[in-house]
Amino acid sequence: MSKKNIVVLVSGGGTNLQALIDAGKRGELGNGEITCVISSKEGAYALTRAKENNIKTRTLIRKDYSDIASYSKAMRDALFEENADLIVYAGFMTILDENVCDEFPNKMINVHPALIPSFCGKGFYGLHVHEEALKKGVKVSGATVHFVTAECDAGPIILQKAVEVLDDDKPETLQKRIMENAEWKILPEAVRLFCDDKITVENGKTIISK
Ligand code: GAR
Repeated sequence: MSKKNIVVLVSGGGTNLQALIDAGKRGELGNGEITCVISSKEGAYALTRAKENNIKTRTLIRKDYSDIASYSKAMRDALFEENADLIVYAGFMTILDENVCDEFPNKMINVHPALIPSFCGKGFYGLHVHEEALKKGVKVSGATVHFVTAECDAGPIILQKAVEVLDDDKPETLQKRIMENAEWKILPEAVRLFCDDKITVENGKTIISK
């Protein structure tokens, strides 16, 4: 099995990227290797994390492009240049269109900080997700890793992990608990499963062979 090039897309702090880097150092990304990190924002701290670990970085600034179609085409070209086998959205806050999604079917995965189909879709990102979960009064929330399709947060689900919501939670405390207990665990695990060819998709659902 030849090594798989993992390209990680980021927009912010990059704690999920860090979880992937740490898993790689422990030999837990299976047949995959992070070969490039691409940021949609200049100065994202995720870029510093990549550089500190000698991973190639690129920036493709969203606001340099007039619309999502031209941005998506530029991203598609960058992903081809990087010979991406797997593309991971790790706190990547831009919804790419079919110019990218149709080129990499079932090769792009996203981590979302809630149990899809709850608190997902357009407008549900970052801290907003946890604000809405607390507003609704759910007793459990969690994280989901899924394949990316052109419809936001709607692709086949790979892994999910539930996390308890506490009575005195604030969006920030819930976010932290979900990151630590769910996102940083299931994202590297999903990447390993992908890189070791353990995931197949049938009728919009994933089947995972252990
Ligand atoms: C994470 O909680 C991630 O799940 C979320 O943004 C945060 C990024 O943190 N992503 C989304 O909301 C995408 N819809 P990070 O930059 O520290 O990984």
